[in-house]
Amino acid sequence: MSDKFKALEAYEDLKQKLEAKLSNTSLTLQSLQELRQEYLGKKGPIQELMGEMKNLSPEEKPSFGQKINALKTLVSDLIESKKKELEERQVQEKLEKERIDITLPGKEVNTGSIHVLSKVIEEVEDLFIGMGYEVKDGPEVEYDEYNFRLLNIPKDHPARAMQDTFYVDVERLLRTQTSAAQAHTMLEYGGNKDVRIICPGKAYRRDEDDATHSHQFTQIEGLVVTKDVTMSDLKGTLLKMAQSLFGEDREIRLRPSYFPFTEPSIEVDVSCFKCHGKGCSMCKDTGWIEILGAGMVNNNVLSMCGYDPKKYQGFAFGVGVERIAMLKYGIDDIRSLYANDLRLLKQFKA
Ligand code: DAH
Repeated sequence: MSDKFKALEAYEDLKQKLEAKLSNTSLTLQSLQELRQEYLGKKGPIQELMGEMKNLSPEEKPSFGQKINALKTLVSDLIESKKKELEERQVQEKLEKERIDITLPGKEVNTGSIHVLSKVIEEVEDLFIGMGYEVKDGPEVEYDEYNFRLLNIPKDHPARAMQDTFYVDVERLLRTQTSAAQAHTMLEYGGNKDVRIICPGKAYRRDEDDATHSHQFTQIEGLVVTKDVTMSDLKGTLLKMAQSLFGEDREIRLRPSYFPFTEPSIEVDVSCFKCHGKGCSMCKDTGWIEILGAGMVNNNVLSMCGYDPKKYQGFAFGVGVERIAMLKYGIDDIRSLYANDLRLLKQFKA
C-alpha cells in the first residue's frame, strides 16, 4: 500500500470514528478531554502516523506531512467545536436548574415600626431643631428642688395638689413634669447665655389609670430665655407647632390660666381639625381643642435659676405627647398606647 494511500485511509477512518464518538450523547467535558488525549496525545494515531515519515522518500514526505497536518487540524477542530457545544449545554442546564420563579410570593421581611409616641416626639424635635433649639434630656428620678421649688412651687404650695407625686424619699421623687429641665438648663447655662431647649421625656403622677389618665405619661417641655422675648414670640412659636402637628391651616387661641412657673400663664387651643370650627364630638361642639399649657417664665423662676429678670425674659410651654397622639390619630384610650398591641403599632410603619 502506498504511503499516501495509507495516510488518506487513516484520515477517513479516524474522522469517521471520531465523529461517531463525538456524537455519543453521554459525552461529557471530562470524557472529551480524554478523547483529545487519545487522538492528539503522544501515543495517539496522529503521532503514530508522524512516526511513519522517516520511512518515506524525500518526494513523498511533503504531501504526506500535509495530509497529517490537515488531519490534526480536523481532529482538534472537531473536538474544539464539541467542547463549545458541551460548555454551552452545561450553562443552559445550570440556568434551567437555578431558574427563579418570579411568580412565587416573596418572603416578608418583618421590620419594626416606630411607636406613635416616639413619632410625635420626633416630629416636634425636628420642628424645633429647625428653629435652633437644643434637645435636652433630664432624669426621671428627680429632686424636689428641680421639679417643684425652683419652679416657684415651694413645700406646702397649693399647686402641689395639682400634681399627685410618687416620692422616693423626702428629697427625691419621680418627676411629675418635664418642666424640671427648665431649672437644670438655666442653672447649667449660668445666667448669661440664651436658652432655647425642648425636653421630651416621661413623667409620673399618682393618677388612677383610665381612658384619659396614666400614672406614667410623656411630655415635651419647651423653654426660651433671652433678651427681648415677648408673648407674641410665644404665640408665633406655638402656632408653628400646632400647624406642623395638625395641618397648615390651623389657628390657635390663647386662654388665661395659672401655672406657678409662668406669669402670665395661658392654655392653648387649636382650631378643630375634624370639623374646621363647625362643631363636632372631637371639639365638644366648641370648634377648639385644648392642646397645651404655656406662659412667660415667672420672674421668681428666672432669678432662682440665676437669670436677672431685668435683663432676661423667657417663655415656656409643656405639651402632653399622649394627648397629641390621641387627637392626631384618633386613639380613644390612652392605655392602648402602652399595651403593645401589634394591630395598633403596625399602623405606624414608615
Ligand atoms: N408642666 C405643666 C404640666 O405638667 C405644663 C406646662 C404648663 C409647662 C405651662 C410649661 C408651662 O412650661 O409654661 O401641667
